[in-house]
Amino acid sequence: MIQMESQPTVDRGLANTLAAESRMCFIDGQKGVLEYVGIDIDALARNSTFEETVFLLWNERLPRREELESFVDRVREEYDLPDGLWQLIERVPRTATPMHALRSLVSSLALFDPEADDPSEEANERKSIRLLARVPAVIANFDRHRKGLPFMRPSPDQDIATSFLTMLNGQPPTTAMARAMDVCLILHAEHGFNASTFAAMVTISTLSDMYSAITTAIGTLKGPLHGGANEEVMHMLREIGTLDRVEPWVRDRLARKDRIMGFGHRVYRTTDPRATYLKTFAKQIAEDTGNQDLYAMSRRIEEIMHEAVGAKGIHPNVDFYSATTYHSLGLELDLFTPIFAMARVAGWAGHCIEYLKDNKLMRPGCLYTGPHAVQYVPLDRR
Ligand code: CMC
Repeated sequence: MIQMESQPTVDRGLANTLAAESRMCFIDGQKGVLEYVGIDIDALARNSTFEETVFLLWNERLPRREELESFVDRVREEYDLPDGLWQLIERVPRTATPMHALRSLVSSLALFDPEADDPSEEANERKSIRLLARVPAVIANFDRHRKGLPFMRPSPDQDIATSFLTMLNGQPPTTAMARAMDVCLILHAEHGFNASTFAAMVTISTLSDMYSAITTAIGTLKGPLHGGANEEVMHMLREIGTLDRVEPWVRDRLARKDRIMGFGHRVYRTTDPRATYLKTFAKQIAEDTGNQDLYAMSRRIEEIMHEAVGAKGIHPNVDFYSATTYHSLGLELDLFTPIFAMARVAGWAGHCIEYLKDNKLMRPGCLYTGPHAVQYVPLDRR
């Protein structure tokens, strides 16, 4: 008797598919655990810096002091943008949204990199450093361009978070603001095979190049079901407006089967541990900056959602309290998702390089449900 191979079944949204192995990130969605290379996210948020966290993700261990210094130096050496890119930023329409601008400009970075198509691991590492170093200058200077402000080059004596906020605001941030930004970057740096990371991996698995992979990822992150949700949370808070309007607004949306942005997750059935951290953080920053109303509204939304859909495993995700945090930090709404991208370059690039060590083209099948043996009817007889 011939042994039949079992027929693959359709896995909608790839929810039950393990697409590859990875050593970068562990998530236990039932218990709400997130670790980068085995280190709990809370310990990293409390003690690490974004640069050190990126070293950890890319090297599978924490750096020694001199290794960290050398990594930081390498990143800062790559901070400035190629001349041609400054010219391109000037040509982007001022009305463009920052995510469209970011996607197009990151793609354009390849035009100025002679190593763009060098597939060696060393070249891919160098390009990852360049992308990590340059994306903040691209975001901040597109923002300056759209406001009619002169460009501001990144300063090699500042870390990524400080340099970004300095370029954005035209003056250095307070130490507290810079640390808050740094922690947000750590929390957003990596999250397994989320949609944008997977998209980057599909691109790199064709042996395309790092710029193409990161451009793919940015386009994928932009969607409101993924990284775009943080901007949608802020739109929601603005639309609701006041604390007394929260309950009717949320209940009405739920009754209409609408999604409440910043809630629910493919992996977490309990609160996203990043949201737990950001909640405490949002409260503190909101108090320090006079944004208590926004925080109070967010808390009320969380309470109502807990009552209404908590039993279904729908809880706040990373995007929910990051909206209040970013707003309290004085960041404009349409920069929230670009900032997510700036941090996630770490995860995207890390996964691409890791996957290339044992590459296999990503190419799933599909279950054909259309007709067969259909006759071709010439155009004049249809
Ligand atoms: N509000 C109300 N109901 C929800 C929500 C929500 N935010 N999320 C899921 N549900 C319900 C959904 O309607 C469905 O109900 P039913 O079984 O009665 O039809 C059930 O929960 C399962 O939803 P699903 O869409 O099958 O689950 P999923 O794993 O495909 O969705 C998700 C995950 C993130 C797309 C979804 O929770 C969602 O749309 N959330 C809002 C957007 C958001 O905040 N995205 C950010 C995700 S986390 C950070 C990131 O990745 O960038």
